[in-house]
Amino acid sequence: MTYQEVLENARKTIKNCKACPVCNGLACGTTMPGPGSKGGCAHENWKAWRNIRLNIDTFAPNTGVDTSCCLFGREFSMPLLTGPIGTLLQYSDTDVTVDFNDGVMKAAKEHGIINCFGDGLAPQTVPGALASIEKYGAASIPVLNPMPNEKIIHTMEEVEKSSALAVAVVVDSAGLGIWNKLGSVGMGSKTFDDLKLLKSHTNKPFVVKGIMNARSAERALEAGADAIIVSNHGGRVLADAPATAAVLPEIVKAVNGRAVVIVDGGIRSGADIFKALAMGADAALICRPFATAWFGGGSEAVGVYIEKLRAELVEAMYMCGARSLADICPDMIRFRHPDLER
Ligand SMILES: Cc1cc2nc3c(=O)[nH]c(=O)nc-3n(C[C@H](O)[C@H](O)[C@H](O)COP(=O)(O)O)c2cc1C
Repeated sequence: MTYQEVLENARKTIKNCKACPVCNGLACGTTMPGPGSKGGCAHENWKAWRNIRLNIDTFAPNTGVDTSCCLFGREFSMPLLTGPIGTLLQYSDTDVTVDFNDGVMKAAKEHGIINCFGDGLAPQTVPGALASIEKYGAASIPVLNPMPNEKIIHTMEEVEKSSALAVAVVVDSAGLGIWNKLGSVGMGSKTFDDLKLLKSHTNKPFVVKGIMNARSAERALEAGADAIIVSNHGGRVLADAPATAAVLPEIVKAVNGRAVVIVDGGIRSGADIFKALAMGADAALICRPFATAWFGGGSEAVGVYIEKLRAELVEAMYMCGARSLADICPDMIRFRHPDLER
């Protein structure tokens, strides 16, 4: 199966998404429920990575390129995470969330990367995904929405009994009014004390997703975060939020190696992953294209997309003189947008 075929297949089954050759937030626009964003913010994320270019430098040993990495104490084949989607009802009339999580997790395991899954609204979502973790021995991170603390803690207790790699709380979902309208689930903002409390309920690495400035990163670390995900929820929570690539440098500087920094938002190629690493991120997360891939051919198609990303990352590393991830440095990229100057 080629990636082209994956997209063609996806167009026959997926709802609200056009399975575009490049997933840049334009065709889906503001479609929510669906994969859209507020005020074109998904496109802003995507555009920011386009404004970073790669510095060709081929003076390097003519040897192979190694994309392997160590995250949360485990070895992976590349620094990539598949993103969480709470409910696949955003893409389908029937709720296929459990099947989606299972298929993406299977491919993530087979191709040596980390999977993340969302907790959604349906009661079967988390138990289904936790069962898939055990079935595949997958390295997977449940990403829990900012529900009332008791509810999160209840889910965390289930996660603790599983082999999940880590547990995450996504703080920027506070901006998802649609969820509150749907089921009055009580989702909202979290305080520093809330985060400290939640951290105290897990022995797994604690991840905070939805960090968009140095101050929030500092607070998350003080509350005990072992990792943060620089994210504006794919532009779905606030129109006019900055692109994640624009805020990444100041956050990397503030974190200064004290926690794992992961970034998402409009990252679409291995070259984009390379740019994120050159800007100091430890790993990149990609979300929407994995949904498209899964609709285009299930687990196998997800694998096709992962290997496409790997080939592109290898090419970027090879052409910029990096033979391992440790070789990737800020000099290997060039900014062409004033907002993105170092
Ligand atoms: C349809 C849809 C549903 C999402 N659901 C969740 C969710 O339940 N939890 C979460 O943390 N992020 C959720 N996200 C955000 C993604 O995980 C990710 O942060 C964002 O889409 C940026 O990545 P991308 O530009 O590669 O899509 C969702 C995104 C989309 C498009």
